[in-house]
Amino acid sequence: MIITALDYNNAQDALEFVAKVDPSLTRLKIGKELFTRAGPALVEQLQTKGFEIFLDLKFHDIPNTVAGALSAAASLGVWMVNVHAFGGPRMLAAARDAIPEAGASGGTRLIGVTVLTSMDDAELKHIGIQATAQEQVKALARLCIDQGLDGVVCSAQEVSLIRSIAPESFLTVTPGVRPATAGVANDDQRRVMTPADAIKAGSSYLVIGRPITQSNNPLESLQQIHEQISS
Ligand code: C5P
Repeated sequence: MIITALDYNNAQDALEFVAKVDPSLTRLKIGKELFTRAGPALVEQLQTKGFEIFLDLKFHDIPNTVAGALSAAASLGVWMVNVHAFGGPRMLAAARDAIPEAGASGGTRLIGVTVLTSMDDAELKHIGIQATAQEQVKALARLCIDQGLDGVVCSAQEVSLIRSIAPESFLTVTPGVRPATAGVANDDQRRVMTPADAIKAGSSYLVIGRPITQSNNPLESLQQIHEQISS
C-alpha cells in the first residue's frame, strides 16, 4: 500500500536506506535520476532483497519506441511501470501490448500519468490545452481505462473523480502524501493529503518520499504511517 520514492542520486545512499526498512512495509519507486545513474543492476539488487519495484520512467514517445522501452522494463521483472497518457491511444495500446500477459505472479502493472501535479490550469493553456486540469485528468484516465491499462498516477484529490468512471480493480497511485505527524514538512508539495485521508478517498498506493527517506528513523516513520492508516 506504501511505495517509498527512492529519490537518491547514487546507488550507495539508496542501499543504505533500504538496509533500514523491510519489504513487508514498503515497495520502492526508482525514478529517472537514480535509474540513469545506477541502471538495471540496482533494480536487480533490490529485487534480490525481496522488494517490489515501481520503475517510474514515465515513457512518452512514438508507439514503436515506447513498446521497446516497455518490453525492456518488463524483462527486468519490475512490479510496475508507467507512461504518459498524453502519448495517446495508439501509444498506450502499444505499451500495453509490449508487456507479456500477467502470469501467476500478476505480471508487470502498467499505469498512465494523467496531468503532472506540478501543472495547473494556466500552465495547460500555455501548451494549448483549454480544458481545466480536472477535465484533462478525467479524459486521460478514461483513455487509460479504454486502452486496458491497470491504473493511473494522480493526485489524491482526483481519486474520487477517477473512481466514479473506473472499474473497481483500476489502480490509483497517489504522490503528495504527508503524514499527520508533528514536524513533518510539506516540502515542495502543494496539494497534500494525509495517508489516512488518501486511503479513505480510494487511493490504492501512496507514494511517499522525503517524510520516510529523510527521517532519522525510516523504519519508525514507515510503521507510524501504517498505524495512521489502520487506525
Ligand atoms: O518526497 P515526496 O513525498 O514529495 O516524493 C514524491 C515522489 O512522487 C517524488 O518521487 C516525485 O517525483 C513523485 N511524483 C510527484 N507528483 C507527481 C508524480 C510523481 O510528487 N505528479
